[in-house]
Amino acid sequence: MSAQRILLVDDDARALEALATSLAVPDTGWELQLAHGAEAALDAIARQRFAAVVCDLQMPRKNGAAVLDAVRHTQPDAIRVILAGPTEITASVLAMHVAHQFVGKPCPPALLREQLARALRFHAELGAGQLREVVCGVTTLPSPPRVFQVLTSALADPDTDIADVVQILRAEIGLCTKVLQLANSSVFGLPRPLADIKQAVTYLGLRTLKHLVLGAEVYGGIESLRLAREFDLGEEQAHAMAIARLAAEVVAPDPQQADLAFTAAMLHDIGELVLAGHMPDVYRRTKAVVAACRRGEPLSPPDRELLDLHARAGGYLAGVWGLPEPVVEAVLHHHRPSQAAPHLQFLAGIVHAADCLCHALAEDGDERRAAAFARLVDRDWLSAAGLTDRIVDWIERAGSLGLERSAVAALA
Ligand SMILES: [Fe+2]
Ligand SMILES: [Fe+2]
Repeated sequence: MSAQRILLVDDDARALEALATSLAVPDTGWELQLAHGAEAALDAIARQRFAAVVCDLQMPRKNGAAVLDAVRHTQPDAIRVILAGPTEITASVLAMHVAHQFVGKPCPPALLREQLARALRFHAELGAGQLREVVCGVTTLPSPPRVFQVLTSALADPDTDIADVVQILRAEIGLCTKVLQLANSSVFGLPRPLADIKQAVTYLGLRTLKHLVLGAEVYGGIESLRLAREFDLGEEQAHAMAIARLAAEVVAPDPQQADLAFTAAMLHDIGELVLAGHMPDVYRRTKAVVAACRRGEPLSPPDRELLDLHARAGGYLAGVWGLPEPVVEAVLHHHRPSQAAPHLQFLAGIVHAADCLCHALAEDGDERRAAAFARLVDRDWLSAAGLTDRIVDWIERAGSLGLERSAVAALA
């Protein structure tokens, strides 16, 4: 693999040297370049392309968010990392709409290396081309404006507690993903990955969340994207919510896994949102393949590739945003869990089974539903997981959830 060029930016010369020293380890394949201040950074990005830009947030004249915003516009496929001190939380929450990852200062060198290496691994796996530009260029997933109104007024109400906010967020894919991205960034010094939305909100606190919602509203929102004509955000949300309930309430074997299953299932089709907003034509074709798949038509290799694309777009977005590994793998492999890393197949499988159940519910009667499920499911995974005898029970319990027909019909 060719060297990955990384630009390090800080106005403090000693901090910049220290940063370079902490990242200068053999065998990473990284080629480090240093920019002393914002102007030098802008000059460097005008001359060369970078796989990643790591930038200090607080700099005189132009801050790190402005530098990364320039990177986003001129080199959308570059990984953008912001370094922020403990007193800069508000600014870094706002800056998260231009950065993929946040690193709290001071940061243990090993942690920074690990975080950067992980993001660069996804960057390399995306390959050079449109998909990488699109995935790395996404900063906000579409959210209905109504959600912002509901959340903003809930957060302004002194009587609102965490449970109220979690309830609103759990039904909303875009902000749910953003909350997990922020909670998992090392600027908050979290000792372990957080995959449950309730824990993430509790950890961040309502004040930080208020800044996050404000920033998402300013920087993103549905109006700023040219979404595919066929895209119906309400339908996508209803589908995600149906799968999330099926994953948590039917397939997850015990309550301990239910919250994680809910989150992963809620996010499983974020790649659809990415495609609908940035590659509308591909989105349209993917929908056609999914419909053919549901009718039981065999998939040609190009169809299979197209189906994989939304899963890859979503999984890599989750990876580049620093979401926990099991969630990333579940999104990446929700159509074929047998291809996930063996120790991460469990969650991917739960989401996959819930997705198949959702599709099967479009049929009438348990027998036809079981047949549809058997047609759609990744049999390699099902038999390896020893779950073949669970189908009848899953179908029965899924039917008793009373999911709305519209949620079941919305597909992918
Ligand atoms: Fe789906
Ligand atoms: Fe999907």
